[in-house]
Amino acid sequence: MDNRVVAIDGPAGAGKSTIARLLADRIKYTYIDSGAMYRALTLKVLDSSINIADTKEIIEISKEVDIDFMDKCIYLDGKVVDKQIREERINKNVSIIAAIPDVRKNIVRIQRRISIGKNVVMDGRDVGTVIFPNAFIKFFITASLEERAMRRCAEIEASGMSVDLQDIKCQIEKRDYTDSTREDSPLMQAEDAILIDTSGKSIEEVLQVVINFINLRGGDINAI
Ligand code: DC
Repeated sequence: MDNRVVAIDGPAGAGKSTIARLLADRIKYTYIDSGAMYRALTLKVLDSSINIADTKEIIEISKEVDIDFMDKCIYLDGKVVDKQIREERINKNVSIIAAIPDVRKNIVRIQRRISIGKNVVMDGRDVGTVIFPNAFIKFFITASLEERAMRRCAEIEASGMSVDLQDIKCQIEKRDYTDSTREDSPLMQAEDAILIDTSGKSIEEVLQVVINFINLRGGDINAI
């Protein structure tokens, strides 16, 4: 049987990575976070002397960068950078870098390469539309802006920092706008993706909905 891809796309903070991780564990697939790769590249750019507006240099870096995703960890040049890629400076700059078409070409190549020979659950913005248009099943997971901002605030507060809901809302709105209006592979629901609004739903509820759809699709997936 061919290797299978479960594609999970959606806007920032909709809960797709939480669902994708849990789903991958449940069905014994490999989880791949496609956004972590754009974040890792952004980290490399910000830690170098390159100007964030220097598109040409950023494209050069994206050609040679060593990015990998193994055992739910993101590697940049051989080092785990899970913590660093979640810093505010990355949140603020990643969508600028992810909007550069030649950067996307290089990152999509990595995303496809590391999925070869595996059954994967991959989450992102263009998994079902660009990276794997023939995915076995596609989901588009979303939630209201209010709810996404509140979840993000709760996450930040849980890590001991204080945060302003309005600031977070503006930040998410800005990122949504950049991601969905860029010319190359904008954030959008694939025609054949199943839309799930997670507003007011628990993680377990959403996970069950996703699993039910996979079963309906005839996924002879073990452990469901
Ligand atoms: O899912 P995330 O917040 O970690 O994604 C970080 C950024 O990367 C986000 O601004 C959009 C971009 N991204 C993308 O363009 N394509 C993907 N497949 C995944 C993420």
